[in-house]
Amino acid sequence: MNNLTKFENKHIPILNEFLSKYLESLDANDLLKQSMEYSVEAGGKRIRPILILLVLDALKKAITAEDYQVASSLELLHTYSLIHDDLPEMDNDDLRRGKPTNHKKFGQAMAVLAGDGLLTTAFEWLAKVNISAEKRVKLISDLAFAAGPQGMVNGQVGDILGEKTKYNLAQLQNVHRGKTGALIRYACIAGATLADANDEQSELLCKYGENFGLAFQIYDDLLDVIGNEKTLGKKVHKDKSENKNTYPGLLGVDGTKEKLNDILNQTYQLLNEMKSKGIKVDLLTELLDYFKIKEQ
Ligand code: IPE
Ligand code: IPE
Ligand code: MG
Ligand code: MG
Ligand code: MG
Repeated sequence: MNNLTKFENKHIPILNEFLSKYLESLDANDLLKQSMEYSVEAGGKRIRPILILLVLDALKKAITAEDYQVASSLELLHTYSLIHDDLPEMDNDDLRRGKPTNHKKFGQAMAVLAGDGLLTTAFEWLAKVNISAEKRVKLISDLAFAAGPQGMVNGQVGDILGEKTKYNLAQLQNVHRGKTGALIRYACIAGATLADANDEQSELLCKYGENFGLAFQIYDDLLDVIGNEKTLGKKVHKDKSENKNTYPGLLGVDGTKEKLNDILNQTYQLLNEMKSKGIKVDLLTELLDYFKIKEQ
């Protein structure tokens, strides 16, 4: 077992415990709570919260309860984005994390409300974490920027409008930077904030997050073409049927693999630079193995 798997095996159960305890503690309608818990507890790779914890490890900070809370609040927000992304008026999906999508199980009204609930409670939780007020405000502001109309929501708008128009590579990258890149970038910035990284380190970690985010959506687009439903827990070949702009649509499968490789090679170089600035890069390097293409 590699060290990244060990890290995940150690921390994901703890994150899951924080998530389920927090949701259980909410004084809210039972059906709403069930609907929120359903999507959060359906699983998911937990890549965004793990990335926050990996940055802490990279900066040699011991992981505390407060760090888990900050990381978990990001997973709540990410899960909201998936529930809304799957709605009939968005991507119209009926399978997510290996289960029927939230609106298939609870109906569209409850799915919208469960998403609203996860989004808002993510900020409530973050605002209550017992860290300095200065760090808390920075995290809240950075997360709002990443998730909102200058980040993820903007990318989702580009993705939806794109169903009616063909983007060039620069436009497509811009959509990816918003819809997927923004939250992943935030994960790296949040880790840097929690661990008191210096400016130089923060900038490099932010760049790592940007690269990782772009690679992540390219790989997601690729898996929609070459992956399978069982491993992904979501339907494949959906992007073409929804007329989405994707890397494979623009560059073909081989061209997409080349682009993915280009970004990964740039990121390996970046990791060398990070190492020279006192950042521990072993696990952040292993994390890039996520993008190794497993032919299926
Ligand atoms: C899916 O995110 C949405 C994208 C940004 C591609 P993940 O692939 O991280 O989904 P989960 O959290 O593992 O279900
Ligand atoms: C989703 O991108 C991005 C967000 C949820 C913000 P996709 O629409 O490609 O994600 P999947 O393929 O449905 O997981
Ligand atoms: Mg989408
Ligand atoms: Mg989708
Ligand atoms: Mg996708």
